[in-house]
Amino acid sequence: MTTDTTPGPASPLTFGVATASYQVEGATESDGRGASIWDTFTATPGTIADGSDGSIACGSYERLEDDLELVAGLGVDVYRFSVAWPRVQPSGSGRMEPRGLDYYDRMVDGLRDRGIRPLPTLYHWDLPQPLEDAGGWPVRDTAERFADYAEVVAARLGDRVETWATLNEPWCSAFLGYAAGIHAPGRREPEAAYAAAHHLLLGHALAAARLRDGAAVGIVLNPSPVRPESPDAEDAARAVDAIQNRLWFDALSRGEYPADLLRLAPVLADEQTVRAGDLDLIARSLDWLGVNYYFPIRVAVSDGDAPRRADAYPGAPNCRFVPRPPLTAMGWEVDASGLEELLVGVSRQFAGIPLLVTENGMALDDLDRRSDGSVDDPDRIAYLRDHIAAVQRARAAGADVQTYIAWTLMDNFEWAEGYRKKFGLVEVEQETLRRLPKASYDWYAQLVHAGGLIP
Ligand code: FCB
Repeated sequence: MTTDTTPGPASPLTFGVATASYQVEGATESDGRGASIWDTFTATPGTIADGSDGSIACGSYERLEDDLELVAGLGVDVYRFSVAWPRVQPSGSGRMEPRGLDYYDRMVDGLRDRGIRPLPTLYHWDLPQPLEDAGGWPVRDTAERFADYAEVVAARLGDRVETWATLNEPWCSAFLGYAAGIHAPGRREPEAAYAAAHHLLLGHALAAARLRDGAAVGIVLNPSPVRPESPDAEDAARAVDAIQNRLWFDALSRGEYPADLLRLAPVLADEQTVRAGDLDLIARSLDWLGVNYYFPIRVAVSDGDAPRRADAYPGAPNCRFVPRPPLTAMGWEVDASGLEELLVGVSRQFAGIPLLVTENGMALDDLDRRSDGSVDDPDRIAYLRDHIAAVQRARAAGADVQTYIAWTLMDNFEWAEGYRKKFGLVEVEQETLRRLPKASYDWYAQLVHAGGLIP
């Protein structure tokens, strides 16, 4: 007789790979696509490190078959892509653009034909510009418009999509977008950022109610373990944790905003903004939860010279971030134990809700080549290996993590960093847009083929 006492999930871990519309599609003026806040933001001098934008990106809008073949070549179960709202509903409300919808229709069919599960994200940051002109996420109406848009996309794709993600990393949309101004729309209005956070959650919940009809709906967050560097940084670390993590976790798991956060953000206690019923809806909105993980946040006190990124934590005591080596090309600390810690903690707070690691990966300069000319990236392989092992440890400790999704299929437009920060498993030659799989692509394909056994 064998008694299996392992508490982990019964089904094997599945694998996927991800991209996002503005980062790969290009063709920003094709087929009736409207402008998004990222078109406007990138056109503003000084916003993007290399002065670039997403107008060409990887040219994926015109290379659907090539991209599908690359995804299929990995043997993955899931492809996480995003639907560009301004491509399918150019002004953010009203008229839909059939040519834009066609692209995602072909994407879904092309994936299913290859035995790959489509996991569309409905909002990976490309808000239609007319909605920003009307106030953007700090305005409640944007949440309603998002739910309407979600419903129309589901009417077209819902017969073939079993899993939807509503929003990608609403912390970034709210606090990098409206408080620090590092991301589009580039506003620096702390109170508006907190209102945006609530309306993002509300938009997610309103959309979830309309998408559900047999499908599993989730949201994708970017939580990080927050570590005070010294005892005097504990207050700052608690505030950073409240804004980065607990705001989202507590609203989604129990329908409340944390008490210490309400002291930093009175607008979240204001009944005009957080209306009766909103939090109940938010608390009942999840069938699964997506976790994007890159690095832990190490907080130290700052004597006034706080970095711009600290503005993304409005109301927190002055602080700076002190990552410990080894660092990626983004300057992000490499620490796989942070992923295990997160998954175990999150699975306790969200008991009964399966988790997906919806993004994880590493930026490198990719300077070394194999003899066939392709990128040799052993550090990326090591990063992926260590983080997948961390997921497996979290599962063994009882966390119901179903899928691991690598960021990203190919080098692409890395937001405020432009094209110089490369996260891809595939290199994209900038002049020709030719795709060249890296060593990490081959390695990941091998791992997927071996059912997650680390090569
Ligand atoms: C995440 C984003 C994703 C990508 C990675 C590196 O915050 O969701 O689009 O840029 O970071």
